[in-house]
Amino acid sequence: MATELPSWNWAGSGDTAEVDGETFRFRVLGLDTDHELVVLKTAEIGHDYEQLIRRERPDRIVELGMKDGGSAALLAVAARPEVLVGIDLGPVPERLTDLVRRRGLDGRVYAHGGVDQADRAAVLAAMEPFGDAAIDLVIDDASHLLGPTVASIEALLPRVRPGGLYLIEDWCGDYLQACMTAEAIGGSGGDRSDLPERIERIRRTIEVLNSPGATLPPELVAALGVEHERNQREGRTADEGLGAVGLIGAIVTAMFTVDLDLLRTVPGRASRPLSDLATIFALAASREHGPIETLHVTSNWLLVRRGGAPLDPDTFRLADLAPDHFGYLT
Ligand SMILES: C[S@@+](CC[C@H](N)C(=O)[O-])C[C@H]1O[C@@H](n2cnc3c(N)ncnc32)[C@H](O)[C@@H]1O
Repeated sequence: MATELPSWNWAGSGDTAEVDGETFRFRVLGLDTDHELVVLKTAEIGHDYEQLIRRERPDRIVELGMKDGGSAALLAVAARPEVLVGIDLGPVPERLTDLVRRRGLDGRVYAHGGVDQADRAAVLAAMEPFGDAAIDLVIDDASHLLGPTVASIEALLPRVRPGGLYLIEDWCGDYLQACMTAEAIGGSGGDRSDLPERIERIRRTIEVLNSPGATLPPELVAALGVEHERNQREGRTADEGLGAVGLIGAIVTAMFTVDLDLLRTVPGRASRPLSDLATIFALAASREHGPIETLHVTSNWLLVRRGGAPLDPDTFRLADLAPDHFGYLT
């Protein structure tokens, strides 16, 4: 018999869900408090997860990127999985450890800190609690960089059961940042000569922001604070003007107030954007009876459903899913 799942009671101004006696607060930005289970997502994405869990009832779940542990805690409470494995480059979040202890979830929830999603051997070692059982759901909310994301897909997709799901959050961040930057520069009349460089610097800045322990030049941090405060003070929403709201919006607008030379000190590499994955999985899904059954795309995530064709766990490479005969990805 299927496990009974708890209901979600949405409250507050719609950004808080009470699930089985635990309170989860959804927010993308803003101050955290020590005692709250904060999920770093919009409430809209929270509702998507509520539906996904109810529909799919995943029993074996992987979360890549736990941050403060709120999303892993939510999965553990709302989906009641047999096994949940979480990894993060940063340390194991204390709030998740507390919840596991408090709710007696030892032996069901396994959290690994200091694991890079690009490190195939470490990622596979973390999957040991599943034994030989296939995975129902992988959620990647970690680096949002193409290389590390592909490394995790190559390690884990062959271990997802046919009909199971591989979900990649924020797949279109690079693309949206580029669109915001182009809009901020102005329509076709604006001078766009430095657009590629601006886009590249924004991507590198976000890479640094997303790496635990990394630091940005202090002048840039100050400019980001000013822009973020201005957005909040003026109550700017995504429907207005530049759409330059939220952290990404603040970064885009800060690029116009800081000396671009500052960003030369931001480390990073020019890599292909994560949005390449949409093309790869769409092409792979075009083949009937293949290893990818469907691709569902929303502004929040790519949801890949495994087909029945097997993938060799030792040799699988993402590029093999969809040979790029027309040069879409070059
Ligand atoms: C967006 S946050 C995760 C938010 C969390 N899933 C939630 O909804 O509350 C991204 C996390 O990924 C981690 N991360 C970044 N790069 C990573 C990598 N290469 N491998 C593993 N984790 C990484 C960061 O340390 C950070 O905790």
